[in-house]
Amino acid sequence: MSQAAITPKTAPFSLSPLTPTIGAEIGGIDLSKPMDSAMLASLREALLEWKVIFFRDQDISTEEHLAFARQFGELEVHPFAPHKEGYPEVLAITHNRERPGKENKWHSDVTWRECPSLGSVLRAVEVPDVGGDTLFSDMYAAYDGLSDEVKEKIDSAVAIHDFAHFRTMMQKLGKTPEEIEEMNRRYPMVEHPVVRTHPETGRKGIYVNVAFTQRIVGMDKVESDTLLAHLYAQAAVPEYQCRFRWRKNSIAFWDNRACQHYAASDYWPAVRKMERVTIIGDRPC
Ligand code: SIN
Repeated sequence: MSQAAITPKTAPFSLSPLTPTIGAEIGGIDLSKPMDSAMLASLREALLEWKVIFFRDQDISTEEHLAFARQFGELEVHPFAPHKEGYPEVLAITHNRERPGKENKWHSDVTWRECPSLGSVLRAVEVPDVGGDTLFSDMYAAYDGLSDEVKEKIDSAVAIHDFAHFRTMMQKLGKTPEEIEEMNRRYPMVEHPVVRTHPETGRKGIYVNVAFTQRIVGMDKVESDTLLAHLYAQAAVPEYQCRFRWRKNSIAFWDNRACQHYAASDYWPAVRKMERVTIIGDRPC
């Protein structure tokens, strides 16, 4: 396993890094067209190297969005979040005056699943004139920046993940206790390593997040909460981050195994409409 080195000089497309380690804008590719295997392999290398890649001016249909993402793996249907009508695999992330933005917690997608996401492909359908940026944080850099003492504590630790905030949402929507219990049965809490080894790059990264992680197994509550707070705080370190300013038809494709993201909710009451397709990953180890 090695980290593929794809740089502005070696890439078969234009590639402009946003920071030294995370985020690169890619140009000269039309995502609506099928790609040959060499181009796909290069895009995959770019994703592995930069953790999130961005594309501009991709006026693509929903079918083309799905087809692009499917080239990287099987797609999931999210059991709780609303989807675009007629497209169960397309999450409709819509915010406006009545529904303020709420993806403003650092997280990696669906870590409450046994096999969480490999990556997500998010398309901007309608964006505010200003605001609504998404921030991404490099979880390898965050891990590398920890003290040896903390690394020793977490290197073989596991943590419990849960879809808690969707449960609260279901309660607010008036779901019955039986319906919620059925979801608990289908998606029981799951254990993942606190430090994940990326299946393709072999690099270690922090794999706990404030949205879905509950506690570290085998620690008392105070110790677990203190350690988790320290690990969560790493995502907020500016040196590990990049920030993407959306335009209509921009696309971000991020690697949920290597980074976390946070959608700045600073644009209310403006409308922000995004569509996300989520690629299923493997069981973290
Ligand atoms: C998400 O959390 O998947 C959505 C991010 C965004 O809307 O920018």
